[in-house]
Amino acid sequence: MAERSCLAIILAAGEGTRMRSKKPKVLHEIAGLAMVAHVAAATKAAGVDHIALVVGPDAGRVGAVLESEGVDMSVWVQSERRGTAHAVLAARTALEAGYDDILVVFADTPLITPGLLQQARRVIDPDNGRDAAGHGDIAVIGFRSDNPFGYGRLIEDKGQIIAIREERDASSAEKAITLCNGGLMAMRGVGALSLLDQIGNDNAKDEFYLTDIVALAHEQGRRVVAVEAPHEELLGVNTRAELAAAETIWQRRKRRQMMENGVTLIDPDSVHFSYDTQIASDVTVEPQVFFGRNVRVAGDAVIHAFSHIEGADIAEGVSVGPFARLRPGTVLGENAKVGNFCEIKAATIGAGTKVNHLSYIGDAVLGSAANIGAGTITCNYDGVNKYRTEIGHKAFVGSNSALVAPVRIGDGAYVASGSVVTQDVPADALAVARARQTNKPELAARIRSRAKVKRP
Ligand code: UD1
Ligand code: MG
Repeated sequence: MAERSCLAIILAAGEGTRMRSKKPKVLHEIAGLAMVAHVAAATKAAGVDHIALVVGPDAGRVGAVLESEGVDMSVWVQSERRGTAHAVLAARTALEAGYDDILVVFADTPLITPGLLQQARRVIDPDNGRDAAGHGDIAVIGFRSDNPFGYGRLIEDKGQIIAIREERDASSAEKAITLCNGGLMAMRGVGALSLLDQIGNDNAKDEFYLTDIVALAHEQGRRVVAVEAPHEELLGVNTRAELAAAETIWQRRKRRQMMENGVTLIDPDSVHFSYDTQIASDVTVEPQVFFGRNVRVAGDAVIHAFSHIEGADIAEGVSVGPFARLRPGTVLGENAKVGNFCEIKAATIGAGTKVNHLSYIGDAVLGSAANIGAGTITCNYDGVNKYRTEIGHKAFVGSNSALVAPVRIGDGAYVASGSVVTQDVPADALAVARARQTNKPELAARIRSRAKVKRP
C-alpha cells in the first residue's frame, strides 16, 4: 500500500451555525488542538501525501491555523455551500493531479483514527485481491446505530453498498436501516473525477450530495463496500455539547494509552491531557491534574494532585504540587521540587532545587541545590518591562523575600527572611535587606493594661 499515492480532501466549508460562535466551527479545539488539525493529523498518519482543504469563503483562518501546525496542504475555497460533492469539486485541480487513492474526510469528525483510514485504503487497493469479498473501488465508512435519525443510510445488496440515502430523501423502509453513513470515503483515483462530475442535485435540499457517488458507481459496474467502525469514532461535532462529548472520548482514549505506556494515573477520569502531552513510564499523576499544551515529563516524576501545567519540561524524579501552577517556559531539572501554591513561569530550576511553598518564580534561572523559602517572590515586572532574576547554586533564600529584578543572588549566598533585595548579592555573602528589629521591654503589657482601663 505504501507505494500508492494518496490525496486527502478535508471538507471544512460548513457554516457551523449551531456552535453559536464567531470562530469557524472546525477551529474549535479538542485537547487544545483545532478539530481540523486532528483530522489532518489522522490523514497524515494514514500515509496521505497531500491534503486539499476545502473552506468556506469566510474561513481563511482555517488554513492559517493548519499551516501554523506544520501541515503541508493546499487550500480551496467553496464559494457557495452547495453540498458535499460540490465541496469536493472545489479541489478539482488537486483531483486532476492523478493520485491513486482519494480520501474524503470531514473536518467536524475529529475522532477518526489513522487505522480506520488505512483500513479503508486497503479495501480499494487493487493489489489486495481484486475479486475478494470486502474489496471495492469505493469504501464507505459506516457505523451501526439504534438511533440512525439524521444520518444517510447505507443500502446493501449482496455484500455491496448500492446507494446511500439521506434522511430527507429516504422511504420509511429505508429509514429503518440501522447501518449509517459516517461520511468518510476512500475511492480509487481513476475515474473518481468523472463520477463526481455526474452527481446532480435532484433531492430534497437541491444540494450536490457526495453520497450519490455510490449509486452512480454501482450503476457503472463498480463495487462499493462498507467499512464498519464504532460510532464513537465517527462522532460529528455540530454543537458545543457534541464538542464536549468528543473531548470526553478523546481524553478517555489518551488516558488508556498513557496507562498502557506505563504511566500511573491514580484517578484517570480526573486527569486532563493535551493532544501533545508526553509522559515517560513510571511517572505518577495524582487526581485532578490539568496538562495544557507542550508538556514533557520524564521518568519517576510525581505530579501531585490539583496541579495545572502547561509549556513545561519536567526532568526525572521531579516532584510537582500539590496545587502547583507551571506556566510556559518552565524547565525543572532532575529531582527538583515545586510544592504547593507555587507558580513558575519562564524559569529554569536547577537539579535538586526546592521551591516548596507559596512562591512566584518568573523570568528566572536558578542553579542546582538551591533552597527558596516559603513566600519568595521574583518581582519581575515594573508595569512596563520584564526583568530577570538569577539565583546561584546552593543559594538559600529566606522566607518571604522579594527579589526585585534585575538581580543576581550568587552561588552559596544567603538572603535573610523578609528581605527586599534590590542589589546583587555576591557569592557566599549574606544579604539582610529589612528593618532591624528593636524590642521595647514591657511595652506590650503596658498597652494591655491601658486597654483594660478604658473598657466600660
Ligand atoms: C453528511 C452525509 C450523511 C452522513 C453524515 C455523517 C452527505 C450528503 N451526507 O450529512 O450521509 O450520514 O454526513 O455525519 O454527504 N460541507 C462543505 N460544503 C458543503 C456542505 C458540507 O464543506 O457545501 C462539509 C461540512 O463542513 C462538513 C461535511 O461537509 O464537514 C458534512 O456536511 P454536513 O452538512 O455536516 O452533512 P450532514 O448533513 O451531516
Ligand atoms: Mg454533519
